[in-house]
Amino acid sequence: MSSEPDRYGVFGHPVAHSLSPFIHAMFARETGEAISYQIYDVAPAEFAERARGFFAAGGRGLNITLPHKIAAVDVAHELTARAAHAAAVNTLALQGGVLVGDNTDGVGLVRDLCDNLGLGIRGRRLLILGAGGATRGLLAPLVELAPATVVIANRTPERAAALAAAFAHLGTIQGVGFACVGDTPYDLIINATSASLAGAIPPVPLGAIGRHTVCYDLAYGRSATAFVKWAERSGCAGAFQGLGMLVEQAAESFRLWRGVRPATASVRAALREAI
Ligand code: ATR
Repeated sequence: MSSEPDRYGVFGHPVAHSLSPFIHAMFARETGEAISYQIYDVAPAEFAERARGFFAAGGRGLNITLPHKIAAVDVAHELTARAAHAAAVNTLALQGGVLVGDNTDGVGLVRDLCDNLGLGIRGRRLLILGAGGATRGLLAPLVELAPATVVIANRTPERAAALAAAFAHLGTIQGVGFACVGDTPYDLIINATSASLAGAIPPVPLGAIGRHTVCYDLAYGRSATAFVKWAERSGCAGAFQGLGMLVEQAAESFRLWRGVRPATASVRAALREAI
C-alpha cells in the first residue's frame, strides 16, 4: 500500500504567487489530513488536457483560479447547483470516479461577511460593483440572504442589466451604470471589478457611501487595495480586502475534498501577518 499523501493543487496562469499552498498546508496540519498541494502554472490552451491528466495520474482535487474557472465547467462530469449558477468552477473533486465541479467563492464571501465580520445581510441595501465572472459567482449566495436591495453597477451598463435579468428569478436585482446608483448610502458595497488589479477605483458616486457603509474588496494585496484606501478616506464604517474570503473559499474546497471543514481563524491571522 502506498503511503504517499493524496495529491491536490491549484491550476492558474499566472499563479506563482498563490497563497493556496500556504493555506491548505495549515488546514492539513490542523485537521491531521495527509495531503500534498502544489502550484501548476497552466496555459489556457493546455488547461483541459492537463486537468484530466492530473486526475488520471491519481490526483484527488484541484483549485481552479484565473483564467480557467469557465473552462473548468466543461472538464467536470457534474456541477453542484452553486457552480451551475455561477457558470464557473473553482474546485474540482474526484468523488467515486466522478469529477465534481463546485464553486466555493460565493459561500466563502458570505462566511467572511457574516461569520468573521459579523455583518447582517437580511434587509440591507447592497451595491455590487462589476458585472463579470466574480459578480456572477456571488449573486445567488448573497440574494439568498434576503437583502432589501441589490444593485449591480458596471462600467458597461448593459452587462449589469443582463446579469440582473439572468438572476431575476432569485429576487429583485437592478443592473445599472455607475452614474445611476443613486445618492442614498448603501449598507454594503462589494467591489467585484478587476479594477484593483490595475490600482484603479470604480467611479462610485460619493452619495452611495455613508458613515454606516461597509466596503469590501474581493481583491487583496500586501497593502490596502486602491478601493480600500478610497473607502477609508471616504469615512465609511469599515473597509476590508478579500483575504478572509480567500481563506473561507479554501476551507469549503478542503471540506469537499476531505469531508472535514478546517477552522479558519488561525489561518486568517497567519496570512495577515505573512503579507
Ligand atoms: P472577473 O471574472 O474577474 O469578474 P471580467 O469578467 O473580465 O473578470 O470582469 C471584470 C469586471 O471589472 C467587469 O465588470 C469590468 O467592467 P466592464 O464590464 O465595463 O468591462 C470591471 N472593470 C475592470 N476594470 C475596471 C475599471 N478600471 N473601472 C471600473 N470597472 C472595471
